[in-house]
Amino acid sequence: MSGSIMDKVTLHNGVMMPVFGLGVYKVEEGEETEKTVSSALQLGYRLIDTAAFYDNEEGVGKAIRSSSVPREDIFVTTKVWNSDQGYENTLKAFDRSINKLGVEYVDLYLVHWPVKGKYLDTWRAMEEIYRSGRVRAIGVSNFQVHHLQDILNHCEEKPVINQVELHPALSQEELRAFCTSHEIAVEAWSPIARGRLFGDPIIASIAKDKGKSEAQIILRWHVQNGVIPIPKSVHLERLKENSDICDFVLTAKEMENINSLNRDERFGAHPDHFDF
Ligand SMILES: NC(=O)c1ccc[n+]([C@@H]2O[C@H](COP(=O)([O-])OP(=O)(O)OC[C@H]3O[C@@H](n4cnc5c(N)ncnc54)[C@H](OP(=O)(O)O)[C@@H]3O)[C@@H](O)[C@H]2O)c1
Repeated sequence: MSGSIMDKVTLHNGVMMPVFGLGVYKVEEGEETEKTVSSALQLGYRLIDTAAFYDNEEGVGKAIRSSSVPREDIFVTTKVWNSDQGYENTLKAFDRSINKLGVEYVDLYLVHWPVKGKYLDTWRAMEEIYRSGRVRAIGVSNFQVHHLQDILNHCEEKPVINQVELHPALSQEELRAFCTSHEIAVEAWSPIARGRLFGDPIIASIAKDKGKSEAQIILRWHVQNGVIPIPKSVHLERLKENSDICDFVLTAKEMENINSLNRDERFGAHPDHFDF
């Protein structure tokens, strides 16, 4: 065994966060979300990543409340959407999110994207929400080094995490090094690049050698890099497959070979040029 998906990392404010989780972007609100989150919790997933923008916070909350897993063992993340940024709007957006989730506290609240001219005011509101005790940790998403530097220059509370697009074709080494040097954890969205890297000869050959799927190889690569992946699936078999990554270890050479696939290729929007 090489750990468990329930293992935790300690964030710089002392809060412990699971090293692996479930993302629910594009999971339909209602039955699909409730079923997916319930199945994931039964399989041992302990981190659930939603956002106001995903429009499924109610389903996430219902699944958490009806689960036999105690609330304190589940780590829930949600995010403030771009059109809700700014100081006052962020405070209101958080109230809406926590009400939809129906929980007493959120584990991690993130600034979804670095909206130009607004994210510093948004961050002041995040700090206030943090101090109110209704969220255990605050962080950012899609922040480049210069955005982080700007936050660090102005903040009272440092972000605990930066959630960014990250997979073997976009390994984000420079950003990861910056985050590590500032005790900011790194979380990977689109960790398996929505399947786009399946069939790559290096990943396929490692998968064959290890008797694992290509998704499992990529997810294991993240965990061994100290990055928290949050793969999304609405299929039970894939939820199982994605979480079954603790019975093998990638060698240093295999890690290096996967690292060599980086081509700084984004499949999602660029944090300096998004228009939403
Ligand atoms: N902060 C941000 O701006 C941001 C942006 C995007 C995403 N995210 C977060 O990151 C999470 C994950 O990212 P993502 O959904 O973009 O991409 P992903 O997790 O890399 O890939 C999900 C896609 O791959 C399929 N899939 C999952 N497991 C598979 C497997 N074992 N074999 C083959 N196909 C598989 C899923 O289909 P099925 O569901 O049909 O199985 C889905 O279409 C999101 O859900 C969200 O929570 C955050």
